[in-house]
Amino acid sequence: MSIESCTDFLRTAYASEELMRTLRAMTGPKEIIALGRRHGYDFHLGDLATASMSFAPESAPGPRPAASPPPSESVFYHHEYDIADLPGFGDIIDLLPRLKVQPDTVDLARFADRYREEDRASTDLSPVSQEFRRWQNRVEREESARGADPQQRGFHLVNLDEHVDHSGYDSYLDAKSAAVGALERAFGTEVRFSGSMWYPPSSYRLWHTNETQPGWRMYLIDFDAPFTDPEHTTFFRYLHPRTGELVTLRERPRIARFFKIEQDPDRLFWHCIVNPTQRHRWSFGFVVPDDWRERLGLPA
Ligand SMILES: [Fe+2]
Repeated sequence: MSIESCTDFLRTAYASEELMRTLRAMTGPKEIIALGRRHGYDFHLGDLATASMSFAPESAPGPRPAASPPPSESVFYHHEYDIADLPGFGDIIDLLPRLKVQPDTVDLARFADRYREEDRASTDLSPVSQEFRRWQNRVEREESARGADPQQRGFHLVNLDEHVDHSGYDSYLDAKSAAVGALERAFGTEVRFSGSMWYPPSSYRLWHTNETQPGWRMYLIDFDAPFTDPEHTTFFRYLHPRTGELVTLRERPRIARFFKIEQDPDRLFWHCIVNPTQRHRWSFGFVVPDDWRERLGLPA
């Protein structure tokens, strides 16, 4: 019965521009199930998997892999702007307060207990160094030995889209859907969320490449309050694919960062994010078109 309910929901969603925009604002199956329930359809995770396959195998809703960009030489590896300087982003600034949620379903004391200084310290190493590889191999062995997924250890942060049962979720989802609408007006084409992350104090995302999802990303980053010391901030760090140098980008409120994820083994975009401060950091990721600069009327 619930596969049928799920298929009905997908059919309704595909016929509605508004629902499709909301689906582009979602990054996890839990959100799709919650959206279905909001519209009177009751189905579970397994139903969604089955119904998506039989309903529209070529275009399932929710997160979709970005089309592989044509091979090209990337000279610049990142671009950063104040959100306020980006044409058409005024609505996004207005939506930020509703996007920056702290779900009460997250236990911050338990979160803090999972912090590991040795993991944070791994972000000071080059991800292609022997020292890093040795450390990573040891961690993988340890995690596997205790039956845990070694990948999970790389995420000491909160994926907001996995929390759909808190009192602020409906307002958060409406704000995400409005953000997709605002960005689609600014870029003049389809845009979708790739991830909505909350980095509470002392959090991190360890070195990774995202190589399975190539293409341009835009991250909108904001905080609960500005930093008082410009030398003690959150940061985004990447390994320059050409020079092997570690580039550390210190952060401030309301910035938009663009970077390109590559699949070519010689040009992998190794990066990590660290919040060593007492501030709360939010980052909202989007898949944006390859020609985003032209579309926003920015100089190449
Ligand atoms: Fe990433």
